[in-house]
Amino acid sequence: MGDKKILCVGLVCLDIINVLDKYPEEDTDSRCLSQRWQRGGNASNSCTVLALLGAPCAFLGSLAPGPVADFIVGDFTKRGVDISTVAWQQEGETPCACCVVCSASGSRTVVLSDTNLPDVTATDFSKVDLTQYSWIHWEGRNAEEQVKMIQQVALFNRSLPQQQRITISVEIEKTMEPLYQLFPYGDIVFISKDVAMHFGFHSAASALQELYHRVKKGAVLICAWAEKGADALGPDGVVVHSDAFSPEVLVDTLGAGDTFNASVIYCLSHGGSLQEALMFGCQVAGRKCGVHGYDGIVEQKK
Ligand code: ADP
Ligand code: FRU
Repeated sequence: MGDKKILCVGLVCLDIINVLDKYPEEDTDSRCLSQRWQRGGNASNSCTVLALLGAPCAFLGSLAPGPVADFIVGDFTKRGVDISTVAWQQEGETPCACCVVCSASGSRTVVLSDTNLPDVTATDFSKVDLTQYSWIHWEGRNAEEQVKMIQQVALFNRSLPQQQRITISVEIEKTMEPLYQLFPYGDIVFISKDVAMHFGFHSAASALQELYHRVKKGAVLICAWAEKGADALGPDGVVVHSDAFSPEVLVDTLGAGDTFNASVIYCLSHGGSLQEALMFGCQVAGRKCGVHGYDGIVEQKK
């Protein structure tokens, strides 16, 4: 792999996080326990975790210049995430989410304003120097354009021997019909519990078995299921499972899924088996649920 990077394509936003001990009643005026600004967005959070794990990584998403972007850029820089590919937009506002994290249950409630900032296009993506990356992960958003981006990578891969090819992963998290066109494009496809339930499944294993026909030949389909852990199904037809690793105290589940995805990608890209990757994903995601934010989820080497 050399020192090639993992690129995550998707959303970055500002998360304004209010920590409360109990979810507030509607039309009341309450005080939070603490409040913080945090860089958010699935692809952006996965970059945070990859950087903490020590993997060279880069982020590709849209930003609009201004104070919110300044905060976000500062945080990416602090974490050592390469943002040289970011698509700076002339119009629109950087998305912002108001989040309520209940420290008694760990629940996270998010209201995202993501209204007018143009998404990254296949034309933006064509400027990316693909030789720098060993793995590219797409958080499903503007799926039609994302398919075109993935096709560019597939074309690039065709000229390379197997071991030098870029691995492609996609995340289908939201229950939005256009995102389902991404199923056949990933070597690794992550689906959420929400998506699985939307298709009428009540367990990760049944969702994987029934949805596997949608992925391309040889691909791996993965489904995380909160406190039930995660399952995966590859071309051998065997469902593998890892239980969740619950923290002593559950305090903050915001970004647990993004942490899981990043940790699975990290493990697989370092030669781990599917079983090892699921366990590692659940371990790191479990540790994340036990702390506010991301610091402390990975033991730092001295
Ligand atoms: P998200 O809702 O953020 O997308 P998920 O609920 O799918 O995330 O969880 C991703 C992973 O995070 C799970 O596979 C599990 O390992 C871990 N996780 C999430 N919630 C919990 C929890 N309550 N207890 C322990 N682990 C959890
Ligand atoms: C967590 C997250 C937050 C963001 C929200 C957007 O997975 O990426 O950081 O506010 O989801 O849907």
